[in-house]
Amino acid sequence: MNFIVCNNYEEISKKAAEIIAELVKSKPDCVLGLATGSTPVGTYKELISKNKSGEISFARAVSYNLDEYYPISPDNDQSYRYFMNANLFSHIDIPMENTHLLNGEAEDPDAECRAYDEAIKNAGGIDIQILGIGRNGHIAFNEPDKELIAPTHKTGLTEDTIDANSRFFASADLVPRYALTMGMGSIFAAKKIILLANGASKAQAIGELRSDKITTSNPSTLLKLHPDVTIICDKEAYGE
Ligand code: F6R
Repeated sequence: MNFIVCNNYEEISKKAAEIIAELVKSKPDCVLGLATGSTPVGTYKELISKNKSGEISFARAVSYNLDEYYPISPDNDQSYRYFMNANLFSHIDIPMENTHLLNGEAEDPDAECRAYDEAIKNAGGIDIQILGIGRNGHIAFNEPDKELIAPTHKTGLTEDTIDANSRFFASADLVPRYALTMGMGSIFAAKKIILLANGASKAQAIGELRSDKITTSNPSTLLKLHPDVTIICDKEAYGE
């Protein structure tokens, strides 16, 4: 694992966008693994400006997002589909049909999850996976537990995550209790992983990631087993 410790959020966003831009330039038909949440928003803004200035084009790129609430309609302004359209896809030249999110309205969520893993495989696998990290160490919706699930799957949200995500909803009651999420195995199949973290609320999770231990009680620690992971964080998240 390689740590890049930045002075602030802006620096994190610029660094992450540079790495993604290099990939898009060298492989225009790359497969991007994308995340929602507050952390990657700055990176997406940088990518939008690189696209608008003509530095990079997403015209041939394909994307797969990590997760989606369940059940939720894509038109719900709290859905991750809505978030991705608003924060990235509507502002860049990626064809909408090249952008993929798990269907929060799937009648058969298990079949939806299996088909998603299959589609990623058929697309050639994810070239670069962007990750945020929960303050409890969750990755996508792989929450701390005795066991983790490898493939994409339906999962319940923990109270901690419901609480953390309730800031986006009118009340905690409105946060969906389930999600469809790429599993640790699906995430690990990515050729390269970039994890972004800022702020003191992530310091404990990142501290465990910096230690030598691997534990399912902090799913992010499994990233130590992946051959190409870069963590881009600020000093507060790094624990300095
Ligand atoms: C988002 C996701 C989540 C977030 C994590 C951090 O697709 O899978 O795991 O990355 O909850 O969220 P923020 O960035 O809002 O602190």
